[in-house]
This record gives sequence, C-alpha cells and structure tokens, in this order.
Amino acid sequence: MKNYTIILLFVFSVLSGINITAQNFPKIIKHGNAYQLIINDKPFIMRAGELGNSNASTVNYMKKCVWENLKKQNINTALVPVYWDLIEPEENNFDFTLVKAAISGGEKNNIKIVFLWFGAWKNSMSCYVPSWIKKDVKRFPRVESKEGIKQEILSPYSQENLKADKKAFCKLMEFIKQNDKNQTVIMVQVENEIAMLPSARDYSKTATLVFKNEVPAALTDYLSKHKNTLTDSLKKYWSGENSGSWEKLFGQSIYAEEIFSAWSFAVYTNEIAKAGKKVYNLPMYANCALNRPGKKPGEYPSGGPLPHLIDIWKAGAPCLEMLSPDIYFGDFKKWTKSYFRDDNPFFIPEHQYDATAGAKALYAIGEYHALGFSPFSVETKQAAFMPPVLGATFEEKTQKGNLTEIPNAYNLIKCVENEITTFNGTDKMRGFLLDTINQRDTIILGGYEIIAKHDNLLGWSAQSKQPGWRTSGAILINTDKDEFMLIGTGIVLNFKSLNKKNNAGILEIKEISTEDGKTIIRYLNGDESHQGRHVRITDGEWGIQKFKLYEY
Ligand code: DGJ
Repeated sequence: MKNYTIILLFVFSVLSGINITAQNFPKIIKHGNAYQLIINDKPFIMRAGELGNSNASTVNYMKKCVWENLKKQNINTALVPVYWDLIEPEENNFDFTLVKAAISGGEKNNIKIVFLWFGAWKNSMSCYVPSWIKKDVKRFPRVESKEGIKQEILSPYSQENLKADKKAFCKLMEFIKQNDKNQTVIMVQVENEIAMLPSARDYSKTATLVFKNEVPAALTDYLSKHKNTLTDSLKKYWSGENSGSWEKLFGQSIYAEEIFSAWSFAVYTNEIAKAGKKVYNLPMYANCALNRPGKKPGEYPSGGPLPHLIDIWKAGAPCLEMLSPDIYFGDFKKWTKSYFRDDNPFFIPEHQYDATAGAKALYAIGEYHALGFSPFSVETKQAAFMPPVLGATFEEKTQKGNLTEIPNAYNLIKCVENEITTFNGTDKMRGFLLDTINQRDTIILGGYEIIAKHDNLLGWSAQSKQPGWRTSGAILINTDKDEFMLIGTGIVLNFKSLNKKNNAGILEIKEISTEDGKTIIRYLNGDESHQGRHVRITDGEWGIQKFKLYEY
C-alpha cells in the first residue's frame, strides 16, 4: 500500500511539474544548544557577504561586479538588497527584473541569496520608499522630532504606511515563491536597521496619543512571563506593574520613550513578516545598528532590536526568527554575547569588511555556533572607504590588513563544514578570538585545560614586536576522546591535565590540507610543536591541524 502511494505521488509530481522536495522550505531548527539553518534538508553554514547598498540596482552592475568577486572569496551566500522604489515605481505597478536577475545570478554561480527588504526603513530613514509615497505626506505620514519637525522616516503608527509596505513585501514574497524553484533564496531580512532619530520617540500627535494609552497586554504578559531572564536594562526600567501608561510602567524618561518606539517598530515589522510568511514561509529576521557607546536614546538610532531591547522585540515580533547585530564597533565579544540567547538563532548579517573579520567569522562559528557571518560591501572590499571602526580595540593599520582574511577564513570553514555541522549545538566546539588586548584565553574542553595564546606572545617573529597585532581566531573541536581539530590563524595552544597529579602531553599533530580538509600534509613535531610543548598555527597562516593528547 505504502509503495503504491509513493509511486502515485511520483507520477503526480512528474506530470504536474511539481518538485515534491521543494515543499521542504529553508528553515531554522533548534539543534542541541544552538540552531541550524536547513536548506534542501541539510544543515547550511552561511559564508556570507552583503552587497554594497547600490550594487544590486542594475542587472549590468550585478553581472559585472558581483558574482565573480564573491566566488573569489569563497562566499556561498549573498545578502542582496531589494529596493521598494525600484520594484514599485508607480503604485500597484510592480517590476521584479532585478529580483529575477539576482535569483538567476545566484543560481548560476551556486550562491544562495538572502534578500534585504529595503522597504519603509533603511538605517532609520525612508530613503527607499517610492516617490509616490515620499511626495504624499498626508496619506503616508512621517515621524516628528520633539521639536515637531517632520523627518524622512515613515511613521510606524500609520495604517496606510503599513498597508503599502505590506502589499509590496507580499508581492516580493510571491515573486520569490514562484520563481525560485531550487531554494536559491534562503532567508529574508525585513527592513534594514529600523530605528528612530533624532528623538527617542515619534512626537507626532498620533504617536503621542498612543504613548498616553495603556501598554498593551501582549507586552506586559511577556514581561511577567520572562521576568527572571529580562535584560538588565529592562529589569531596571520596568516597574513590575502590569497595567498603565508607558510612563507609569517604565518611568518618565527617554528610556521609556525608547521602549515605546521599540514596541511600535516591532509590532509593525511583525505585521510585515507575518503577511509575507503567509505567502512564502522563509526564515525572516531584523538587523540592528548598535548603540554607540556613551550616547543616549535619540542620540543613537533608537528603538531597533538593540541588545537592551531584545525582549521588547521578541514580545512584539514573534514572527521573526532572529534579531541580529550589525557590528561596526570594537568590543566584538561584548556585542555577540548579548545576541547569543536560547530564544535567538545567532547570525551576524553585517560586519565592517576589515582585517579582523576573518578571525571573527571563525570565532562566531566556533563559540556561538552561528548560522553564518557576513561582512558588508563584500564585492568591493570597501574597508578603505568606510568610516573607521569605533572602539579601542583595533588600530587603523590593523583594520585594513591585506583583506585576504575573509577568503582565507571562508576557505577553512568550507573545508571543515561537515565537522562544524556535526558538532554544532554540542559543548565540544569552541572558538577563540585574540588580539593585542585580549592576548590569551583558557577553556576546559575534552577533559583538558586548554590555554590559547596569540602567536605573537611567543615573541619569535618580527611582527610580534610591532604594535597592533593581527587579530587571531580559531575553532577548536573535540572530535573524539583525546582527539581535537584546530582550524584558524595565529594561535598557540598549551595543555594541562585536569588531574593535578598528571601532565598532559601531545601524542601526534597532523597538518591537514586546506584544499579538502582531509589529506594529511605533514606530521608536525620537533620545532613545529616546540619539541612537544604546543600546537601552533603561526600568525599570517590559515591552517587546519588534528592532534591527539595523552596524560602521563
Ligand atoms: C549599515 C547598513 O545596514 C548598511 O546598509 C550600510 O549602510 C552600512 N551600515 C555601512 O554604511
């Protein structure tokens, strides 16, 4: 009976041209302690890169400048903008030429696509809304600053804004569903770096009325239910009460205003995502411009899915699978930690394209079991033209490097993809990120204490005497009892037994090919292991080594 059903389904699928497996849409699943992105029924790691903002705006430019540049860098996923003004130049008149070209370009070049919906908001502003919306301020209202000045930011409190944005987004999802037969498009970012400026909330009449209203029960219920795990900032500002106005529940300050903005943006975005998913249920997420250290709400783009507002967004936008940070500031570990949560798959959709990015990609995947990593303007490697990274960690010279770091890191990830996906979600895979400031790290893994040091700490190379070391990064996997795999750059490992009476020693180190991740190139010993004292991948080298430990 079973066999007949299978045969019938097969005949039906051949006759109707429907690919049965195409129903297994891309999805994100919980996998052990982490998450996995599943494409065509297999775990997929996004070795991604985001295109420069204007580089998907003509078919020619995409053809000439995008695909080859991505392939050269071992990229398997492109984050590609879809511009509302170009797909709906007149109301209800849609043109998906660019979307179609992106899908077929991705397909031809074996590169998956994450579309970025540049809809109502792009970096707070509404620069990508079509001109028929821009010019009709009455029908499509804007937010206002505290001084009552209209901003080029669509109001999240307007049903007309939401309706128009939703309609265009659903048309886009419909087009993708109908035209992408091979799961080239794997995910969608809803809007881009949503946030309020230059005040912590919209001061228009409509917004002020909503602000005076009761805080919705959906939010207070969430807060009560999650009260023990809320971010510190929410614990500080929420009075713990369940009914009342925003100011009653969160105090009379810009912090209450920012929480109100976050809720309003989240609810709006959720409406867009919900409607889009009804058409085609792809994973969706929102990205976030981080708050500049030392600045207050209103001074930085406020109310987005920021570290201190993640709970508000989780409550207001349950249709989004992920909230993800765009990291252009130093102190990478601080930011990443806030987004690594049990309720939030981990992905970095934007990072400055600089010399630190390769090491950070390895760290994000090793330590946070990330779905992927994605430097910005990857086809132009635009670091030199971008504003410098803020924060004390990196010097300008170090940031620029030679910009081969992403291709090198992605090549390593490609070689060990199987191992990464096998150990994803377990406590057997860890990451290291080391630089001039954070020179060493110690972890317990596989029954050993493992001390990781930046290679320059050995002091053996001329480079180690220079200020501003290259950033080192690595993934370490405990593949079996006493067996490990190290994948990375610029790192030295020493080992201690957890049993104080014993010592830990090295049995064997194999250097593995960075072409296939399998072939043994050499057995490393003698000078290479400092006569059995350490495992080392030198600064500047991007390598893979397998090693075995023992106790004596
Ligand atoms: C973050 C935004 O999300 C990107 O679209 C781009 O504007 C970059 N900043 C760099 O400028």
